[in-house]
Formats: sequence, C-alpha cells, structure tokens
Amino acid sequence: MSEWIACAAFGLEGVVARELNALGIRGVRAETGGARFEGEPADAALANLWLRCADRVRMVCGKFPAESFDQLFEGVRALPWHDWLPREAAFPVSGKCVRAQLMSVSDCQAITKKAIVEKMKTRYNLAKFPETGAVFPIEVSVRGGEATITIDTSGEALNRRGYRTWNGEAPLRETLAAAMISLSGWRGDAPLHDPMCGTGTLLIEAAMIAADRAPGLTRSFACESYHWFPPMKDIRDAARVRLKPDRAFAIAGGDIDTGALELARRHISQAGFEGRIRVIRKNAADYQQSETRGTFVCNPPYGVRIGDAKSSEDAIRALRALRDRNSNWRLAALSAHPGFERVFGKRANRKPRVYNGRLECGIYCYDK
Ligand SMILES: C[S@@+](CC[C@H](N)C(=O)[O-])C[C@H]1O[C@@H](n2cnc3c(N)ncnc32)[C@H](O)[C@@H]1O
Repeated sequence: MSEWIACAAFGLEGVVARELNALGIRGVRAETGGARFEGEPADAALANLWLRCADRVRMVCGKFPAESFDQLFEGVRALPWHDWLPREAAFPVSGKCVRAQLMSVSDCQAITKKAIVEKMKTRYNLAKFPETGAVFPIEVSVRGGEATITIDTSGEALNRRGYRTWNGEAPLRETLAAAMISLSGWRGDAPLHDPMCGTGTLLIEAAMIAADRAPGLTRSFACESYHWFPPMKDIRDAARVRLKPDRAFAIAGGDIDTGALELARRHISQAGFEGRIRVIRKNAADYQQSETRGTFVCNPPYGVRIGDAKSSEDAIRALRALRDRNSNWRLAALSAHPGFERVFGKRANRKPRVYNGRLECGIYCYDK
C-alpha cells in the first residue's frame, strides 16, 4: 500500500477528493494543491484514467525532515530506489521550495539526483547510468522543514484528453471545464448549454460525463512503462464496458465568433461527438430556450488586458439578459472580473474561487 497525490489547481481539491471517493478509492483527503489517497498501483492507474479534474497523479516515495542539504541527501538515499527504477531508467528531477529553509530549487534537485545515483550505484554496480529506458519523472518538494519525494505516474498532464489539437485564443483547461460542470450542479439529465462556447471545451467535457466516458480512454500514461504497475488493458476494457455511447443528452452551444465555432466543430468531431453537439452563431443575449429547465455554463471573455474591460463587461451584461429571458435555468459563469456580480446586477448563490492558470477567478453560480 502506498500513498499517492492527485494534484489539482487551487480550488479544485475538494472536487478531486469527491471524484476519488466515487471511484471507491480509500483514505482520501483533500489538501492544498490536491487530494491524497492510499492504494496500490492499480488504484493510481484507475485514478489516471478516470479523474476529470486533477492535473496528474504522483506516488509519494518518502517524506522526511530536510532542514539542511545533508538531511535531504541522506533522506533521499535511504529510499528503496531499486524497487522503482530499473537499471536503464531515465530519472529527471524537478523541484519546488515553499517557505523552506532550503530555498535553492536547483541545489535541491541536484542533491536529490546525486543521492538517487549513489543508492543505485550500490545496487546495480554501475559507475554511470545510461538513462536510456522508461522515464520516471521525480519531484523534490520542500515545504518548511520537510521534503516530499514523488514519482509522477501520468506523464503528459491529465487535461490532455487528446481531442484538442489547437488551443484557440483563450483556452479553458479541460480539468477546470469538468470542475465547472460538476460545481454547476448539472448531472447529465437536463439540457446544458454554453452560450459563449469558444472552442467547445465545456460542451465536450459535459458530453463525456453524460456518456460516462473515462477522460483518459484514448491517451497513454507514464506508468504504463513502469514494471511495478499492472497493465492498463483491464482497466481500459472495464471503462469501455461502462461507456454509454448512445445515451441521449441535450448539449449545445453558441458563440458570436465564427472562427471559434469552426474550432469547436473540429474538436467536437475529434472527440467523437459529431452530430450530437450542435453549435450555432448567436449572441448570448438573444436566447429563448424552449426547454423550461436547464443549465448554462460558460466562461465569458476575461478582460484582463487593458482595453478588454468593456468587452468583458458587455459579455457579463449579455449573460444577465440571457438569465432574465430564461429565469428557470441555472447559470454557472467563470470570471476573473472582480466586479462580476456588480456588472451582472445580482449576487450569486455560490461563487467558489478557483485558479485558471495564474488567474484567480470565481465560478458565479445562480441557481433557480
Ligand atoms: C474565453 S472565451 C470561451 C472559451 C471556451 N470556453 C473554450 O473552451 O474555448 C469567450 C468566448 O465568448 C464569446 N463571446 C463574447 N461575447 C459574446 C456574446 N455576447 N454572445 C456569444 N458569445 C460571446 C467570444 O467570442 C469567445 O469565444
């Protein structure tokens, strides 16, 4: 049994913890920057395949006091590296230091690498390691006086589902899009509409949820080349059994930008939802939905750059008009605008704080 961390953007830790619990994984607890859990490599493989809102899954190799470089070196060297790294392993070391006595990230990385090499030398009887085999990305994270050493199991970040080839002007991370849908309260049984759909991320993530499609079904993971992980085939086969490709759903979107709509159509097709998600050219202010209930989810333009503030506020006012015309629909809008509620003209029922990259945002939720 090992300890694992499903890393997540600030604000999404609780959502990721709920996802892990729903997968039946044990010992889950949310903490800043992610959610920890206990389990076997098979649990981590399952998490990689199914987590919609996490960035990556790391295995905790060890945690120990590190108030000096000597302590860091000895702590790393004491770990059973030969259990994890084969003779040919490539093991790049990345690092971060947060409010730590050891503030030099590059020194921490170099010392960690040296300590691993020293330990491996005694086991493999080699003076130099070829590093020509599978890649095991290692991270040394020093917080205060404690170091945590982890091995990444995901490889490419988990938001890379494989359906997006070009990111457009203002891409929304797939992981944040999935979290917005979860936090909006939508559960797949009512219409969902993104009136400012851009390149279509929210629509595709919603369709994947409705079809019970594992977000990582068509991609690979670093752990697939780790000898101590079970083959992913069984886990993928089980995910294919769960898949409900024909389940009916009502997911659609619109945008005023024809270029963005073209990209949305391309992504929808690449995600396998061609003909099932319709997007049209329309101003958000002009919708009058025929269904009496549903959920609008969107991220209007941010207005971060000087000169963009007006278009950002125009978009927020368009959302207010949308909501007034469809008063039984819920709305969840992601915005970095500090005066969102003032411009919208109404206080949100909930507004969880999240980070979109480095930008602090709120998800402004208006329930019925
Ligand atoms: C930040 S982008 C959305 C990105 C999108 N979530 C994605 O996955 O690519 C904001 C979008 O809102 C659209 N937009 C702005 N004002 C609008 C309005 N009044 N009606 C419809 N779309 C609008 C822009 O054209 C732009 O594509």
